[in-house]
Amino acid sequence: MRAIVCTELGAPLSLAERPSRPLSPGEVRVEVHAAGVNFADTLIVAGKYQEKPALPFVPGLEAAGVVTEVAPDVGAFAPGDRVLTMAGTGAFAEELCAHASRVHRIPAAVDFVTAASLPVVYGTAHLGLARRAQLLPDETLVVHGAAGGVGLAAVEIGRAMGARVIATAGGAAKVARALAHGADVGIDYTHEDVRERLRALTAGRGAEVIFDPVGGPLLEASVRSLAWEGRLVVVGFASGTIPQVPAGLVMVRNVTLLGLYWGKYLERDPHVVYESLDAIFAMLARGELKPEIETMPLADASVALERIRARTVVGKVVLTTR
Ligand SMILES: NC(=O)c1ccc[n+]([C@@H]2O[C@H](COP(=O)([O-])OP(=O)(O)OC[C@H]3O[C@@H](n4cnc5c(N)ncnc54)[C@H](OP(=O)(O)O)[C@@H]3O)[C@@H](O)[C@H]2O)c1
Repeated sequence: MRAIVCTELGAPLSLAERPSRPLSPGEVRVEVHAAGVNFADTLIVAGKYQEKPALPFVPGLEAAGVVTEVAPDVGAFAPGDRVLTMAGTGAFAEELCAHASRVHRIPAAVDFVTAASLPVVYGTAHLGLARRAQLLPDETLVVHGAAGGVGLAAVEIGRAMGARVIATAGGAAKVARALAHGADVGIDYTHEDVRERLRALTAGRGAEVIFDPVGGPLLEASVRSLAWEGRLVVVGFASGTIPQVPAGLVMVRNVTLLGLYWGKYLERDPHVVYESLDAIFAMLARGELKPEIETMPLADASVALERIRARTVVGKVVLTTR
């Protein structure tokens, strides 16, 4: 089978022929049809992510495909099942072996490319808004980096949950994409002062929920833009800067900072992820989500990662194997 292999951190990735390996107990073998590409992959192949797989490794957090074989102790899956895998590595390949606890069925109506685009970005947006922030209908939700993978998913999920969505992004074209996916208002943070605009857009009240995958100076501006008892979900630091927030600000404004690390739920309580994925599939079936996906062949994995680094992707890139 062909796979994208990382042999040296920070070096170019190569497409290589790899032998299939025998299944270990508890595993299933999946013929991969599509694999989602994530911001985290850019960090993992550079050795800058919290998880550091041993070299050489096949990158790729999430894939969709068909089960071709199961270990004798696996009863939950059978050859022919259409599934998602969230194994943490191995997705940029024609085949992968994943522990059954990291595998979830795909509804018949969902194609492989769409399925592969969902777990990390829609999963993060859904757990961040529904479980952590407990977003309510008619609340004002601000989504930063709203044309990125996680951001665009949060715009759609926030809208589906009945919130008024204010999207921030870098540039008019990206703001336009967030509006097309359901945001009510957009702010271009390359030209506009986010704090001032949020104050005006909320009549001085502030936003009840802010979802932040960007970090940097936006985080403190966001804390200052929260409403009374507002909630801010800290999702990531795409800006490259992990900011400090003055604790006094959190106290005097009676606001809450919530952390969200989606991958940790897979380790500690996978059912939280699977219930969330089923809620996402239900939203998809109701037509509430319209993932924006660009597909590329598996061999172009490096191109996809470079596009993410260069901030030129809107929504999600998915690699296809056939
Ligand atoms: N906590 C979790 O469980 C979790 C899960 C998934 C992702 N994340 C994190 O969330 C962040 C966003 O992920 P994503 O999949 O949405 O990535 P993405 O698709 O690449 O989007 C990131 C967005 O951040 C903005 N950005 C601002 N400064 C940037 C910079 N210096 N470099 C790159 N982008 C920059 C870009 O929008 P503009 O060009 O419009 O500014 C871009 O659209 C990443 O830090 C990722 O690691 C966390």
